[in-house]
Amino acid sequence: MNHEQQSSAQPAAFPEGTPAAELRVGVVGIGWAGQQHLKAYDALDGVRIVSLAGMEQELRDSLQAEYSIPNAFADWEEMLEHGGLDAISVAVPTFLHAPIAVAALARGIHVLSEKPIARNAVEGQAMVDAARKAGRVLDVAFNHRRRGDIQALKDVIDDGGLGRPYYAKASWLRRSGIPTLGSWFTNPELAGGGPLADIGVHALDYALHLLGEPKVVAVSAATHSELGPQGRGGGKEYSALASAHAFEVEDFASAFLRLEGGGTLLIEASWATYREMDDLLDFTIYGTDGGAELKVQGAPFPAVGQLRVFTDKEGESADYVPPVLPGRAHDAVVEDFITAVRGGEAVWGEHDGSLALYRAQIIDACYQSALEQREVRL
Ligand SMILES: NC(=O)c1ccc[n+]([C@@H]2O[C@H](COP(=O)([O-])OP(=O)(O)OC[C@H]3O[C@@H](n4cnc5c(N)ncnc54)[C@H](O)[C@@H]3O)[C@@H](O)[C@H]2O)c1
Repeated sequence: MNHEQQSSAQPAAFPEGTPAAELRVGVVGIGWAGQQHLKAYDALDGVRIVSLAGMEQELRDSLQAEYSIPNAFADWEEMLEHGGLDAISVAVPTFLHAPIAVAALARGIHVLSEKPIARNAVEGQAMVDAARKAGRVLDVAFNHRRRGDIQALKDVIDDGGLGRPYYAKASWLRRSGIPTLGSWFTNPELAGGGPLADIGVHALDYALHLLGEPKVVAVSAATHSELGPQGRGGGKEYSALASAHAFEVEDFASAFLRLEGGGTLLIEASWATYREMDDLLDFTIYGTDGGAELKVQGAPFPAVGQLRVFTDKEGESADYVPPVLPGRAHDAVVEDFITAVRGGEAVWGEHDGSLALYRAQIIDACYQSALEQREVRL
C-alpha cells in the first residue's frame, strides 16, 4: 500500500484480512448505467453507498432518498474532495472516464469504470498506469459476458464441445437505436466513437472471452455514416432534433479480425440499418467438432437468448439446445469488483484494467483501418 498517494481525508482502503469491514462506495453518474451500479451495490452485504454525483438535481435527490445516501454532489470533483471513499463506480460520458478514474486511483480509491474503458487506448493506458501505481483495483463493466446465455456457451466451448474454434461472428445490430441526438453519444470528442465503441466493444469483449482471449494480430474495418446524418435511425423524436444537432460518428461498422493461431472474427455494430425492428445480438462460432448460434432478440436485458449447438456423433447429427439461466449482468460485475477489492493486495494487481485496455487498442486499430482503408497490424 502506498500511503503517500492517499490524502489524509482518505482512510486506508479495505485492510487485508478483515473481510467483515464495511466498504464505503460512491457512484458518479445517474443515467441508466449509474442506476444499475446503485441497485447492485445496494443489494450487497457489507457495502454502504455513501456518495452520489450527477448533474440532474431532481433525479439525484430521488436516488439519494431511495438509497439513503448521506452525500450527494453535482460534480465528481466535489465528491472526491469530500473524501471518505474506498471505491467508486464511474458511469458518466466516456470522455470523463479517464480523468475521474486517474484522480480517484491517485487518492487510493478502487475504481469500477463503465465501458468502454475510455475514448481511446492512450487514455485507457493512463488509467491502467494509475491503477498499477496506486496498487488499487481498476475493473471495467463488461456485463454482457456475464449473461446466462454467454456463460452457457462458454461452458460448452471450455468442455471441448466445439473442438477447436476457428471462426466467430459477433454482431449487435439495431435498426433504429441511435442514442439521443445532441447528447454526448453522437459527438466523437465526448464519446470516442459511435456504435463500434459503444456496443461493438461488448460484442468484441464476449467474443474474445468465448474464444479464450486469443491475441488479435490484424484488423480490417469499415465505418459508415449514412442514416444518422439524415435524421433517420432514431425514431420520431430523433428526426425532429436532427436539423439542429450534428451526427459526427459512424452509424454502422464492421471489422474483420485475424487472430493468433489462424482463427478469424467478424464484428458488426449498428445503431441504424434497414433491418427488422428489434435489437439483435447475434453470435456464431464454428469449431472443428461443432458450431453454435446464439440469438438474443429484443431488449438486450433481461432477455435470454436462444442458444443452439450443432455437432455430430458417429456421423449422425447430434444438435442440441443447452440449458440457459438468466444472467445477472451489472449485479455480477459489481459483485466481482467488490470481491476483488476485498481480496486485498494479493489480487489487486490482476484487476488493473489491462483486459479493457486491450479492447480499446483493438477498437483504435479498427477506426484507423477504416480511416486509412487498409489492414492494420497490432
Ligand atoms: N454496460 C452497459 O451495458 C452500459 C449501458 C449504457 C451505458 N453504459 C456506459 O455508461 C456510461 C454512462 O452512460 P449513460 O447511458 O448512463 O449516460 P447518461 O448520459 O444517461 O448519464 C451520464 C451521467 O453522467 C453525469 N455526469 C456528466 N458529467 C458529470 C460530472 N462532471 N460530474 C458528475 N456527473 C456527471 C450526468 O449528470 C449523468 O447522470 C457511458 O460510458 C456508457 O458507455 C454502459
